[in-house]
Amino acid sequence: MIIPVKTRNGGYNIYFERGALGRVGELLKLDRKVLVVTDNGVPAQYAETVVSQAKEGYIVTIEQGEKSKGIKTFELLLSKLVEYGFTRTDCVVAVGGGVVGDLSGFAASCFMRGIDFYNIPTTVLSQVDSSIGGKTAIDFMQYKNIVGAFWPPAAVIIDPETLSTLPPRQISNGLAESVKMALTFDSDLFELLEREDISAHIDEVIYRSILLKKAVVEEDETEKGLRKVLNFGHTIAHAIESEKAMEDYFHGECVAVGMIPMCSDRVKARLVSVLNKLSLPTSVPCDLNVITEAVRHDKKASGENITFIWVEEAGTFEMKKCSFDEFDNLVKEKLA
Ligand code: GLY
Repeated sequence: MIIPVKTRNGGYNIYFERGALGRVGELLKLDRKVLVVTDNGVPAQYAETVVSQAKEGYIVTIEQGEKSKGIKTFELLLSKLVEYGFTRTDCVVAVGGGVVGDLSGFAASCFMRGIDFYNIPTTVLSQVDSSIGGKTAIDFMQYKNIVGAFWPPAAVIIDPETLSTLPPRQISNGLAESVKMALTFDSDLFELLEREDISAHIDEVIYRSILLKKAVVEEDETEKGLRKVLNFGHTIAHAIESEKAMEDYFHGECVAVGMIPMCSDRVKARLVSVLNKLSLPTSVPCDLNVITEAVRHDKKASGENITFIWVEEAGTFEMKKCSFDEFDNLVKEKLA
């Protein structure tokens, strides 16, 4: 299946196909120098499969985890591009999850003012969300994604076969973002998540999530309006992620908890039952004051009020604004 995505400067294709990794040489332009970036949690054969189809391929394997998404690893990638004599006509290929994609996309956006970047996401989270829409970034000082660029990929390859090596917790982690998109944009998809055996419908869920994400980024590539809806649940999620006591929680798990206070009671009951079905958390084992304080100190929070996405009915959203005190009460009431 080819899913075209329009951008300000043209567009790119998402190739969604089981087994696509085995034919990247046909789908991508690899008859040049190719820097494949992966991490040590991704099966090595995925990057090797890409390199074996390239004219002149090199693999850089970084440490798995968010700690790699910083200036040191960014510098490592740039130094490899220089060392191997890459030019403006060569390319970078990410093979892995969101960290690998965001980091190598940003390196591609900076090297020689921008070279081609291909993304081959191998986690559910990156397949349904981070690989689509051209956001690239690294973390800097204590801030996540604070240095980055919009640098759309030249193509994205989504091969659901690559998910066969992922532990169930990682699958659910990514599906939290599908739940988010279904809850805000697509009540039919939300009903499917409620009704069906999700693992038996994983390809359909991923495919439909990609279509939702495509529609959003085509309308608002640089997050001036509609794309902000993709931050549903993320205000609280980022607060949870900033807490040391919660560092073992995955991003999607924080989003799962973060969505709960942002819905009407009727929707909340349905959401909690889908999250339970996916073994995603529905509460946090820490004092909620810690979370609400972190929301107030979020770098993006400013002034007396906070703006957030609210879901009154599944498949719809509204942008709401309230004081931090009202927001605290909402979180404490709904997450208690
Ligand atoms: N992950 C949210 C976005 O792409 O805007």
